This record gives sequence, structure tokens and C-alpha cells, in this order.
Amino acid sequence: MRDCLVLSMVATLAAVVAASDYNYSHVLELSLLFYEAQRSGKLPIDNRIPWRGDSALADRGQNGEDLTGGYYDAGDFVKFGFTMASTTTLLSWGYLSYRDAYEAAGQAKYALSAIKWAGDYFIKCHVSPNELYGQVGDFNLDHTFWGRPEDLNMSRPAYKIDTQHPGSDLAGETAAALAAVSLVFRDVNPGYSSKCLEHAKQLYRFASQYRGLYHEAIKGAAQYYESTDYGDELTWAAAWLYKATDDPQFLDEAEHHYMKFRLKERPNEFFYNKKVAGVQILLAQLTRQPDYMEAAQAFCDFTVSYQKKTPKGLVYIDKFGTLCHAANVAFVCLQAADAGISPSKYRDFARQQIDYMLGDSGRSYVVGFGHNYPKQPHHAASSCLMRPAPCGWDAFNWPRENPQLLKGALVSGPDENDHYMDKREEYVYNEVTLDYNAGFQSAVAGLRHLQLEAFENNRT
Ligand SMILES: *[C@@H]1O[C@H](CO)[C@@H](O)[C@H](O)[C@H]1NC(C)=O
Ligand SMILES: *[C@@H]1O[C@H](CO)[C@@H](O)[C@H](O)[C@H]1NC(C)=O
Repeated sequence: MRDCLVLSMVATLAAVVAASDYNYSHVLELSLLFYEAQRSGKLPIDNRIPWRGDSALADRGQNGEDLTGGYYDAGDFVKFGFTMASTTTLLSWGYLSYRDAYEAAGQAKYALSAIKWAGDYFIKCHVSPNELYGQVGDFNLDHTFWGRPEDLNMSRPAYKIDTQHPGSDLAGETAAALAAVSLVFRDVNPGYSSKCLEHAKQLYRFASQYRGLYHEAIKGAAQYYESTDYGDELTWAAAWLYKATDDPQFLDEAEHHYMKFRLKERPNEFFYNKKVAGVQILLAQLTRQPDYMEAAQAFCDFTVSYQKKTPKGLVYIDKFGTLCHAANVAFVCLQAADAGISPSKYRDFARQQIDYMLGDSGRSYVVGFGHNYPKQPHHAASSCLMRPAPCGWDAFNWPRENPQLLKGALVSGPDENDHYMDKREEYVYNEVTLDYNAGFQSAVAGLRHLQLEAFENNRT
């Protein structure tokens, strides 16, 4: 019944979307604070996280290149290019589409600085046209340590891809990220924007000419962040470069990759290593070609109607990053809606998924937000007392709330029965990562954008 009304009456839809129980602006603010808490390197004087300071100032490449900066990947301290890049692309996509939401929330400047923090790091990592650092820190060494990033003292080797050890997925995703960053900064910082675009083009050429999977070059990554394919990243990079340049050569290449790597088939998910759904939807937006529109629709229709769900209605794709998966599909289907594909259905779906995370499930899954939010995220730095108190494995094992509030972090999430455990050691439930928050933050911005649009329409 409600569906019929929603589908038939734009005004009703506007009212439904506008009337949320949750303050999306506040969620945007918190999510940006999460990214700020993940910063590595020398922090600026306007750092807003009182329990964070400078860290990993000795991060260097194999030839002494300065690799300080960037973000720690999760609750640990490896700097990991592949997910940092996909995070950056998604945050940028959300900012480009829903800038009004960031502006209305007073968060535009923080969003820009979160994006630039990553962009600056990728530029450092791209030490020559065909050489890109993709990881700083060794997972095995890193995981022997529990404590603050400011106290890190193990060796932090740096790993790269080059022509002998290519990684089209890593170089492709970093190219996509920098192309997206260049669009974000086109008006506010044109010099930086063109610099990002130059790096993006070089990285795409590198990805395209020297084919391979990055985890064969950066072996330590295989266990944690395997990439199964690079066809999606090559297409993604070319499509983002087309969006950033309007140069039809990039569209030709994107379409060529799309055919060659058979990206037409309906994927099951949209994730840091499975970008096909995003590719389909971006190409639908850029070209309005029926092939891409239909592919995008097939993905979102499947997700909305047939994807596995928990009893309380959360899309359930995987036990790791359950909420990230749901937020990612919410975000790309908001993008599909923007391309004119079943807008009311996908927007309603996205709101339902995000509101589940913010409290509709009976609790909040965002640290520092709403009712009964997670108190023990699996995150070393926030599990420590303020300095100078020592911090180590005792903090990991201490069954108490994390002393520092890791504001804005979206945890991995519940199991397929909506069951959740708020225990630090239960990382399947309580892990936090850069990429978990990315699609989520962008979807929240999208929902806020729809509210603003609805208010605007109601006034006129
Ligand atoms: C939403 O949160 C922002 C702060 O993030 C605050 O300024 C605003 O007043 C809140 N809005 C409502 C309606 O509570
Ligand atoms: C790192 O710090 C720990 C604890 O303070 C100390 O036991 C260890 O020897 C240090 N390691 C290095 C490589 O300095």
C-alpha cells in the first residue's frame, strides 16, 4: 500500500524521504571525524582528535622516498593503498554528487581535507610514471603490536608495483581515485586538480600497459586484501578519466575493457575488490546507453528484491563488512536512481538500509551516534588511555569500553540473524576500516541531499 503511494506520488516520496528519525548531517560530521582519527604522518595544527598525534614519521620507500601521511587502514597500522584508493573514489563520488549535503551540514571543508589527505599520499606513493607504492608496514610485524600509532617502533617496510611486478588493479583504482579527486578540486584548487589528473592519467597508462594482479607483487596483501581481477579497475579508471576529461578516447577504452572483461553480467555485490556494479552505474550515468542502464537496473532490482536479507531487513552479502556491503549497494543504487532508474524504489531502499544502521534495527552501529552504539570497536589506538599511560595487549584484553571515543566509525556489523557482539576481540562484528565508512558516508550524504531537495520542492 505504501509502495503504491510512494511510486505514484512524488510529493509523498518527498515527505517520506524528508521525514527521517536520524540527523544525517550529524552522521556526516562524525564519519569525517573517523577519517581524521585514522590519519598517519604529521598532523596539522587543526587536528580535532585530542588523543591523536604525529606518527610513523619515518615511513620511507625502498630508495628513501618520503611516504609519510595517508591513512591507517583499520584498527591496525598498515597503510594500504588499494582500499585507501577505493575509499577515496567513493568519498569523492559522494561529494561530487551531494555537495549540497556537506555544505548544509557545515562539513564541506572537512570533506575536502579528508579527500586531499589521501590524494597527497597517493601522489607521494607514485614515485615515477610506472612505479607506485601500495603498502607501508608489514601485516605480520604490525599484528604483534597493540597500542597507539604514536608509539609504533617496528620496522615498516614499503612495497611497490612497477613494470616488472605490475598491479593493474592497484594502479587502476589509484588512477580512478585521483581522477575523482581532480574533479572534487577543479574549482577550489585548480593547480592541485590538474596535478591529480596528470598522475591519474599516468597511472592508468601504467595499469593498462603492464597487466597483473597487485597481490602477486605485494605478497603480504594476498591474505588480507586479495584482488580477484583487474578488468573492473581498468574500466573504472577509464570511466573516471572520461568523467574528469570528457576525452572520448577514455570512453572508448572503458567500453572496450567492459566488453573484453565481460562486465555486463550482474554482480552480487559492490565492494573494494568488486567494482563491476559501480562501473555499470557510472557508465549508465555518463552515456545513458540502454546496455548500461539495463545492467545497473538488473543489479539494483536484484539487490532490492532478491538479495539475501536479515529478519530485520538488512541486505546480507557477507559476514565481513556486512554493513559496508549494505551501505555500498545503498550508495550505488542512489546513484542509479540519480540516472533516472527506478528512483523512488532505490531511494526508499537506501534509506531503509542506512536507517537500519543508525537505529531502526534497535541499536546504532555508528560509534558515538544514537542509541546503544558500539563501545568496543576493534581499534587499537582508541583502546588506549591518554598518554603518558602505557598501552599494549592489556588494553586489548581489558573488558571495558574503549577509553577514546572513535566517533563516526561504522563497525563491521551483525550476523545474518541481526545478532551482534560488542566485544573488542570479536573483529568479525567490530572491525572498523577506511572502506567500511566510505560508501556509508556517501549514502548518508545522498539521503541528506534528497531531504534538502524535498524541502526545496515543498517551498516552491
Ligand atoms: C543535526 O546535527 C547538527 C550537528 O551535527 C546540528 O547542528 C543540528 O542542529 C542537528 N539538527 C537537528 C534537527 O537536531
Ligand atoms: C619497541 O618498544 C618495545 C616496548 O617499549 C620494546 O620492548 C622494543 O624493544 C622496541 N623495539 C624496537 C625495535 O625498538
